Amino acid sequence: MRKQIVAGNWKMNKNIQQAKELCNSILNQLEASNKEVILAVPFTHFTVLAELLKDSEIKLAAQNCHYELSGSYTGEISASMFASLGVDYVILGHSERREYNKEDNDLLRKKVDTALSQNLKVIYCCGETHNERSLGVHFDFVAKQIIKVVFHLNAQQMKNIIIAYEPVWAIGTGETATSFQAQEMHIHIRSVIASKYGVDIANAISILYGGSCKPSNAQELFSQSDIDGGLIGGASLNADDFISIIKA
Ligand code: PGA
Repeated sequence: MRKQIVAGNWKMNKNIQQAKELCNSILNQLEASNKEVILAVPFTHFTVLAELLKDSEIKLAAQNCHYELSGSYTGEISASMFASLGVDYVILGHSERREYNKEDNDLLRKKVDTALSQNLKVIYCCGETHNERSLGVHFDFVAKQIIKVVFHLNAQQMKNIIIAYEPVWAIGTGETATSFQAQEMHIHIRSVIASKYGVDIANAISILYGGSCKPSNAQELFSQSDIDGGLIGGASLNADDFISIIKA
């Protein structure tokens, strides 16, 4: 059985008061389930939210980390710092960081290694733009993002990777991939992983969908056999919406 995961990516939203409120309201409504619930919150909020979440099953994720563990990198935060705060996951390769911070596959590969060296699990994002999809190269494009960034890992390390397929054209746009388009890409991703690591490992890896996932479409998306949950942006900022996505 693959782990079912719903991760909220708060991005650069919510001050600490709002974050506590949102967190408490998620805690109040969350029912016990076998799903892994993760909150990727701003760095500044970890200590306070970790205290609020300490008796719950909810895990914290960082939204990025540096490729070095320490050093003269003004303004940066390292994977070892997150690990020392009890953070379990880090999101790497989000399309917003690829676009605005010019993070490429070579850099992301280093970040993956650094994160894993600190026992963080990596939620690795991949996904094509409208342009690649219209050219019909989206399957190859996504395969390359995966091969270049995680295919140097050994089988044991691969178990700490979660893939999030996030078509760039669907992020924050209100335009969602159809469940068919998402499932088709998830099957492709799983087969790419199987070609290197074998079917057992490929079948054990959770592949999340992200991109305008909301209460109204979550059930349809999550009912697909290769979609193991979601990486939720906008809808994770509202407790009712986030909870109803978890229930889906
Ligand atoms: P969205 O963002 O749900 O607001 O489209 C998803 C993401 O960026 O992870």
